[in-house]
Amino acid sequence: MSAEQVIVNKGLEGIYFDNTSICHIDGQRGILLYRGYNIHDLASNATYEEVCYLLLYDRLPTKDELDQFDAALKENRNLPSAVMDVIYAFKDGHPTDVLRTAVSALGTIDPDVKDMSLEANLRKGIRLIAQFPTIVAAHERIRKGLDFTPPREDLSHAANFLWMLKGEEPDPDAVRAMDLDFILHAEHSSNASTFTARVAASTLADLHSSVVAAISALKGPLHGGAAEAVMEMVEAIGEPERAEGWVQEQLAAKKRIMGFGHRVYKTEDPRARHLRELSKILGEKYGEPKTFQILQNIEKAMEPMRAKGIYVNVDFYAGSIYHYLGIPADLYIPIFAIGRIVGWVAHILEQYSDNRLIRPLLHYVGPMERQWVFIEQRS
Ligand code: CMC
Repeated sequence: MSAEQVIVNKGLEGIYFDNTSICHIDGQRGILLYRGYNIHDLASNATYEEVCYLLLYDRLPTKDELDQFDAALKENRNLPSAVMDVIYAFKDGHPTDVLRTAVSALGTIDPDVKDMSLEANLRKGIRLIAQFPTIVAAHERIRKGLDFTPPREDLSHAANFLWMLKGEEPDPDAVRAMDLDFILHAEHSSNASTFTARVAASTLADLHSSVVAAISALKGPLHGGAAEAVMEMVEAIGEPERAEGWVQEQLAAKKRIMGFGHRVYKTEDPRARHLRELSKILGEKYGEPKTFQILQNIEKAMEPMRAKGIYVNVDFYAGSIYHYLGIPADLYIPIFAIGRIVGWVAHILEQYSDNRLIRPLLHYVGPMERQWVFIEQRS
């Protein structure tokens, strides 16, 4: 193909690289399906554990199947002592880096690490889903100089995470908020981190290595880091009545407003509706509606951007939920990862099941056939 015929799809925008039966997104109509189930039905009716089962096994569990799956998660919540040592050793690091490093360490000692069968990969995946909240909570406690709060088997995935994080009995509204947040973050097709996981898996790298790659891609502010950036914006604005002017200034300076815009959605991200409602409820419950009001005013000030297809995305209200739950801002990305790990695992398994090495092309635009110059003759 000559240089003139090459079409470069920057950011791989609009490119399908495989088929999937895990997730469907209709970005024009704002529809999101996990394994064919609408996100609004899942948000209203499911628990995170049920959503995990659905994503991994492609169907809703029966009561017995869910009980067994839940038991497997509970059994695997504890961390090997070597991984606790890693968390202690790197306690001053960013929580996302500690999570990535702990998963890397787990990959060296997982009993199934060399077994690439579907059964072994499911076992590894379930272990990681169970271990992620423990890593994040253990690190938070250790870096604050507090005792590690061991996981409890009588609590759900979301309740146990809040228990381990705070060391106190979690409030039912906080538990529901966390559970819903995990459901809404569980899966989102070929977003940057999931694509990265599939690229690593397509080399037949093991599951832990593929998950480490995914965590690395999640870290950036254009992906998992946006919720933290939204809360920094709320802090900079300070008062609800300053929001409109602040947004106008940023847009006039050609700056991006975090929590808005999406590569796929050209209408409102369907996940945002649930987080908006939750943010309002928690703001009232905890007697701090100002954060929610600032967010509402930013959203109003951004209305003219809808003409360009820029609407609120999942991250816009997510940060406020964590803020209301008293969770520090640098835990927002790891919390996104706690929800998303199941999606990564489902995609890694799908990639292994019908693999072809993912290896796109780069169009070379540099000089051709340059003349070699010996070092003595270079100026
Ligand atoms: N604020 C203001 N303008 C925006 C924004 C925004 N948040 N997002 C896009 N635009 C403008 C952009 O400046 C460009 O304008 P123009 O055509 O005049 O140059 C136009 O919209 C198209 O932008 P783009 O960068 O080509 O769009 P993209 O598909 O590459 O970007 C995005 C998607 C998410 C990177 C981008 O919308 C963005 O930077 N948003 C802010 C960060 C954010 O909220 N990220 C979380 C994404 S959702 C969760 C997840 O998947 O991780």
